[in-house]
Amino acid sequence: MWTVAAILVGIVVLVVLSRRLSEKTSPPGPRGLPFIGNILDLQRERRETVLLRWKEKYGPIYQFTSLGMTNFVISDPDLIREAFSKVETTDRPTNIIFSLVMADKGLVFSSGELWKQSRRFSLHHLRNFGMGRSTLETVIQDQVQELIDDVLAPNVGKPICIDHSLRVAVVNIIWRIVASKKIDRTDTAALQAMTSFDEFDSFKSLFIVVLMFPVLLRLPGWVTGMDKVRQRFRESVKTLMRPAIQEHEETVDLNGEPRDYIDCMLQERSRNPELFTKRHMLRCMMDLFIAGYDTTTSTLRWAFIYLTLHPEVQRKVQEEITNVVGKERPPALSDRTRMPYTEAFIMETQRMANIAPTGVEHVTREEIQLGGYTIPRGAQVISLLMAVHMDEKHFPEPEVFRPERFLDEQGRVKPNRALMPFSVGKRSCLGEALARAELFLFVTGLLQRFTIRFPDGFDHDLSCIEYKRLIRKPTEYHLVIMENV
Ligand code: HEM
Repeated sequence: MWTVAAILVGIVVLVVLSRRLSEKTSPPGPRGLPFIGNILDLQRERRETVLLRWKEKYGPIYQFTSLGMTNFVISDPDLIREAFSKVETTDRPTNIIFSLVMADKGLVFSSGELWKQSRRFSLHHLRNFGMGRSTLETVIQDQVQELIDDVLAPNVGKPICIDHSLRVAVVNIIWRIVASKKIDRTDTAALQAMTSFDEFDSFKSLFIVVLMFPVLLRLPGWVTGMDKVRQRFRESVKTLMRPAIQEHEETVDLNGEPRDYIDCMLQERSRNPELFTKRHMLRCMMDLFIAGYDTTTSTLRWAFIYLTLHPEVQRKVQEEITNVVGKERPPALSDRTRMPYTEAFIMETQRMANIAPTGVEHVTREEIQLGGYTIPRGAQVISLLMAVHMDEKHFPEPEVFRPERFLDEQGRVKPNRALMPFSVGKRSCLGEALARAELFLFVTGLLQRFTIRFPDGFDHDLSCIEYKRLIRKPTEYHLVIMENV
C-alpha cells in the first residue's frame, strides 16, 4: 500500500517538475483548444494582424499551436538572423495539400539535399545571367522601354491602371531568363496560364476544413475545389512549361554556352539525372514565377503609391536622375552607387510595404536553442518581418514614410540590419539581386520621363489592401501620367 502511494507521489512530482522545466525552456504564447490549437484565431483575421497582436502580448519570441504543429514566431531581427543562419532551420513544412499540388520538388518548398543542390545550382546560374547576347540589365531595360512606349506614352494625361502591363513586363523578364521567350501583352491565355498559381486562393476557403479532415480529399475534386487548382496547374505546365522544355531538349548544346535557365538545367540533368528529373525541372521553373512575379509587381505598385502620396520624394528622386543619368540614355545599374536617395526610397518602400509580412515558414530538422528557449525538431519557425519593420526601436516613427532614415549625414546610404524584406540566412530570397535590379530600373526609367499623380478627387487609402498567397498588395488604382518638361 505504502509502495503504491510512494509511486503515485513520485509520478505526480515528476509530472509537475517536467511541466515546470518545459515552461522554463518554452517561450510563452496563447492557449489553444485541444487538437486544433489556435487555428480558429488565425482564421478570423489576417494572419499577420493576429501574430502582431500576440507579439505585443508575449514578446519577441512566442509559440502557438495549429493542428498539432508547434509554431515559433520571432520578431527580433537578431534572433531571426541567428535562427535562419542555422542549417537546422532550413527545411520547409510539408502538408497534405502542398504535397498534392506543389509536390516536394522545386526551389521554394523542397527540403534537404534536393533543396541544397537546387539552390546552389540556381543561385550560380541566376548570378551569371549575363548569358547569351543580352545581359540581365538589358532584359529589364527593354521591358521598361516597352512599358513606356506601348502603355504610358500613348496615355499621357489620362487616368490609367498600369497593373496588368506591369505584371506582363515582370513576367516577361522571368520568362526571358528561364526560356528566352516573351509573351505578348495581348496573349491573355498565356498570361493566365503563367499566373495560374493565384488560383490557389480559390481553394483557400476550404483549406482549413480539408487540413482538419484530410479524409475530405477523398471526396470528388469538384466538391473540395481541388479539381480547379489541379486543372490550372496542369494548364500552365501544358501550355507553357512543357513545350518550352521540349523545344530546348531538341536544340540544346549540352557542352556549349547555355542560352537560359532551361539550358542550364538540361546540362545539369545530363550530369546528374537523379536530381534534375522532369518534374523537378518543372517545379523549379514554376517556383521562379510563383516567388518572383507577384512580389516584384506588388512592390512596384506600392512604390508608385508612395511617390504619388509624397510629391516631394518624387521630385528628389527625379532630381537625382537628372543629375546622375540625364535624359539621353536609360538609367543603368552602375548608376545605383551614385543615387543614394533613390536607393533609400526603395528601401523605405520595402520597409513600409511589407509585401511578405510573415516571410515563408521554415521547419527545424533538429532541435535548436534560441533566445534562451528550446525549439524542438519538426517545429515551424515564422519570421514576423512586418513586426521588425514597424518596430520603433529600429525605425523611429515607423508609420511615417521617410527615405532619409536610410541616409547618413553625408547623404550616403546607411544600411539598417533590421531591414529584411528578402529575409535573411540560408533560405533568404534567391531572386534578391534580380528583384533589386528590377525595382531600381523600373522606378528610375519611369520617373526619368514622367511624373505621376492620382486622378483628381482620388486618394489611395493605404489601408486598401488585397491579400493573395501571403502577399500584401494594394488594391487596383489609377494614375495620371504626365510628361516631364
Ligand atoms: C521585391 C521582390 C521580392 C521579395 C520582397 C521577396 C521576398 C522573399 C522572401 C521573404 C522569401 C522567403 C525567404 C525565407 O524563407 O526565409 C523569398 C524566397 C524566395 N524568393 Fe523571393 N522575393 C522577391 C522577388 C523574387 C524574385 C524576382 C525571384 C526569382 C525570380 C525570387 C525567388 C525566390 C525563391 C526561389 C525563394 C525560395 C528560396 C529558398 O527557399 O531557398 N524572389 N523571397
